[in-house]
Amino acid sequence: MKKQIVNQVYWVGINDWELRQFHGYEYSTHKGSTYNSYLIKEEKTVLIDTVFRPFSSKFISNLKKEVELSEIDYVIANHAEPDHSGALPELMNIIPEVPVYCTPNGIKSLKGHYHKDWNFIPVKTGDELDLGNGKKLIFIQAPMLHWPDSMFCYLTGDNVLFSNDAFGQHFCSELLFNDLVSQEELYFEALKYFANILNPFSHLVTKKINEIVGLNFPVDIICPAHGIVWRDNPMQIVKKYVQWASNYHENQITVIYETMYNGTRSIAESIVKGINAADPLVDVKLYNAATNDKNDIITEVFKSKAVLIGSPTVNNGIMSSIAGLLELIKGLKFKHKKAATFGCFGWHDVSTNLLENILKESGFEIIAAPVKCNWEPDDELLSKSFDSGKEFVALLKQKLDKKNTA
Ligand code: FEO
Repeated sequence: MKKQIVNQVYWVGINDWELRQFHGYEYSTHKGSTYNSYLIKEEKTVLIDTVFRPFSSKFISNLKKEVELSEIDYVIANHAEPDHSGALPELMNIIPEVPVYCTPNGIKSLKGHYHKDWNFIPVKTGDELDLGNGKKLIFIQAPMLHWPDSMFCYLTGDNVLFSNDAFGQHFCSELLFNDLVSQEELYFEALKYFANILNPFSHLVTKKINEIVGLNFPVDIICPAHGIVWRDNPMQIVKKYVQWASNYHENQITVIYETMYNGTRSIAESIVKGINAADPLVDVKLYNAATNDKNDIITEVFKSKAVLIGSPTVNNGIMSSIAGLLELIKGLKFKHKKAATFGCFGWHDVSTNLLENILKESGFEIIAAPVKCNWEPDDELLSKSFDSGKEFVALLKQKLDKKNTA
């Protein structure tokens, strides 16, 4: 059922309460998600984005109750990823002549996904579409936020920015608007989304926000393609994005490990105690990568000024959950974060060197010597681990003080 956003702008999307994994199994969605599609009914009728393919028939069936499909004048595809374009094939089978507005990269991507030659109209930043009643849609290309084809569009008169993935959250709620939902849940999911999807493109986020602010469009409502619509002080999420895109961290250190016989775990726990002893106010958190959700850990890494990563040596390498997590971390291009490593080994001392190399390649600065343990840690080694936690805090402080005075 459609929901009114403002005047003649309606939400006609799908709430996916069941979704627990997104992008295959790359992103956990503990609170489900939504695929937001918007219908504008001015003199011209416009549909902005569709929904994930499994919901195609349900979406079309719902949409038919709200509008005669033959009355749709324009379809806008802000982004070709299948969670937003998935219902286009079914829709365009019914209205094949209706123009589909998207970026030139959008055309490439949509053709690649669906192998159809719909009535594509390529648009670029500044192009306009007259909707009648004195209103128009203005297109704003947003390449790499987060795909090369991504774009936003802006509805004049009602001052609505349709931002697609940007400012979105994997967060399902019938309440629809940001002033009606739990702020804690909303911001947790918005931050997780930024950390896990948009962080590699942080520099482009800042640039795009500056560009939009420079256009001097008043923004009364931001309608993302996932989650909650920002109608109460919508610029609050824009300001948050500016912060998150600027080498964001909180007063947090995160320790992450995997363990075989609890040796590396014992070192991790001693390091945590050492950190806490040296700085009782720093929020130090400990995660076993094998038993915690990888995207939640990534969110904690995003919030951290430093991380310590530990694995025992196994098969002349590191354990698989740590290796997988580090592959994610590498792709997300975190900047200005400090790190150190730790781990047990038996016959060959491999893990800490390997961890250091991966962390360096991923843009982390190694600021302390690794804590290594041949076989199982004894009291002396655990005491050394505790001290290394304390020392890590001191080294981190030196580094951050130096940066702040530079
Ligand atoms: Fe929500 Fe990039 O798709």
